[in-house]
Amino acid sequence: MIKSLSTNPYSDQKPGTSGLRKKVPVFQQKNYAENFIQSIFDSLEGFAGETLVIGGDGRYYNREVIQKAIKMAAANGFGRVLVGRGGILSTPAASNVIRKYKAFGGIVLSASHNPGGPTEDFGIKYNVGNGGPAPEKVTDAIFDRTKVIDSYKIANVADVNLDVEGSQQVEDMTVTVIDPVADYAELMESLFDFSAIRKLISGGFRVVFDAMSAVTGPYAKEIIEKRLGAPKGSVMNFIPLPDFGGHHPDPNLVHARALYEIMMAHDAPDFGAASDGDGDRNLIIGKGIFVTPSDSLAILAANAHLAPGYAKGLAGIARSMPTSGAADRVAEKLGIGLYETPTGWKFFGNLLDEGMATICGEESAGTGSNHVREKDGLWAVLLWLNILAVRKESALDIVRQHWSTYGRNYYSRHDYEGVDSDAANGLITALRDKLAGLPGKNFGALTVETADDFSYNDPVDKSVSKNQGIRILFRGGSRVVFRLSGTGTSGATLRVYIERFEPDPARHDLDTQEALADLIAVADELAEIKARTGRQEPSVIT
Ligand code: G1P
Ligand code: ZN
Repeated sequence: MIKSLSTNPYSDQKPGTSGLRKKVPVFQQKNYAENFIQSIFDSLEGFAGETLVIGGDGRYYNREVIQKAIKMAAANGFGRVLVGRGGILSTPAASNVIRKYKAFGGIVLSASHNPGGPTEDFGIKYNVGNGGPAPEKVTDAIFDRTKVIDSYKIANVADVNLDVEGSQQVEDMTVTVIDPVADYAELMESLFDFSAIRKLISGGFRVVFDAMSAVTGPYAKEIIEKRLGAPKGSVMNFIPLPDFGGHHPDPNLVHARALYEIMMAHDAPDFGAASDGDGDRNLIIGKGIFVTPSDSLAILAANAHLAPGYAKGLAGIARSMPTSGAADRVAEKLGIGLYETPTGWKFFGNLLDEGMATICGEESAGTGSNHVREKDGLWAVLLWLNILAVRKESALDIVRQHWSTYGRNYYSRHDYEGVDSDAANGLITALRDKLAGLPGKNFGALTVETADDFSYNDPVDKSVSKNQGIRILFRGGSRVVFRLSGTGTSGATLRVYIERFEPDPARHDLDTQEALADLIAVADELAEIKARTGRQEPSVIT
C-alpha cells in the first residue's frame, strides 16, 4: 500500500444525487478522480473488510477509473470488490448487486444520458447499502472532504483483469469479476411472467428495443432476445460503445428519433422502447403512440397487479412534484397513498424502504419500484410487456382506455438550456414574489386556485426540503410548474412543466402543444420568460 500526495484538490462542485459530473479531460487531471474517490471513502465509516460494488456504463474512461477505484479500495481496507465483467454494470443492476450481496456500498461510473467520449461527460457516484444514491448528508460530507484532502491511499499493483469472471487478489482484498447481467436477469424473471411474455412474442407480437449503444445492450439481448425469444435484431444498437456511437444516449423523441420513426410507420412493430446511457431511464412507444412518462407511470401502477411480483397490489405510489397528476387518480381509485416528492430519485428511498410506496416515477422518463433503489429502464419495459401479454390488447388501446377511465393529462416540458444564471435566478425570485397575489386571479378562462414554492416534509426522516419548484395550480386540475435544473453543466436550465387535465374522452385527440397553448401563454406572462431569458422559444420540448 502506498500513500500518494494529492496535489490537485478541488472544491468547485457539490456532488448531487447523480454524483460528480464533469468532462473527461477534467477527470483526467492528475489526482482528480483519486481525490474524489478518497473523499468518498473518508466520508464513510465501518467499511473495513466489507464489500464494495464497482461498475459503470462503459463510457470513455470507465476502465481507467475502475482500476483506480479497485486499487484504492484495497489500500483503504475494503475486504472485497465485486466488479462487473468489462467494468460494466447498469445503474439498476449495480443497485441490485449491492442489495443482493449485502455490500457496504457501490461506486457507479456514469454520466447517465449525457454523451460520452474523450471530450464528453463522465461521472462518479456513490450508492449506499440499500442500493440507492447516497443521501445528502453523505454527499455533503464528501464535498467538504474534497476541499481539504491532501493525500490518498492506493495499492501499487498491476491492473486487474476485468474481462475474465472469477476472483483475484489485490493485496489483502479479493476482487471478484461477476457477470453483469445474470443477477439482474434473475431478478426480472422473479418479478414478471416470462412465460406469458414468451407466448405473446412467439404468437407474432413484435418488440423493438433501442439500447442506444449504451449499457442496456447486453441486458436486453439476454432478456428480450434470449430468455423471451424475440427474434435476433429486436434489440438495436446493443454493443455498448465508449462514445455511444457519437449520439446522446438519451431516450427521448429527439435522440431516439430513429425508434420513433420505426414505431410511427404503417408496418410498425407492436411495441418499442429504449433506455439511456446507464440504463435507468425508459422510453415507451406503442405502435402509433408515444406514451408520456407521466402516463406510463399511471398505467403501470393501475395494471401492476397483472405481474407476479406485484400481484398483491401496491402499497402506494410516489411521483416527483413536476410529474403529472395522472398517477394521483390511480392511487385514489386503488385507495392507496400518493406521495409527491421533490425532483430526484433519492426522495423515493425512504418511502420504498418503509414500504409506503411500491412504484415511483418522474416525468423525466424514470420509473421504478421497490425491487431496487434506482429507477430502472428495462424493468419498465418488462412490466409493460407483462401487462400487454395478460391484457392481450394493443398499447394504444390500453392508453386510450386509461384516459377514458381516469381522464387525460395533456403534458409537456419546455426546457430553456444554457440561460444566463442571474437571469434564471431572477426569474424564479420574481415569480416567488408574486405567488401570494395569484390565487383567485383570472387569465382568460383560467383561474388560479393555489400558488406556492413546493416544500417537502419527508414523512419518514422528517427532513424538510424547501424551494423545490414554483407551482401554479388552476381550477380544474391544470398546472404550470417552474424550476431550475440541478443537473445542467453550463449556465442554468429553466424547466417549465405544463399540464392540462381533460376529463372528456371526446377531447382526448388534440395535439398536445395546441391543447396546452393557453397555459403556455400564461406561463410566459407570469414568468416573463421571453423578456428575462431573451429566448423566443424553448431549446427542447418534450
Ligand atoms: C433531471 C430530471 C430529474 C432526474 C435527474 C437525474 O434533473 O429532471 O427528474 O431525477 O435529472 O436523472 P434536473 O436537471 O431537472 O434537476
Ligand atoms: Zn440515467
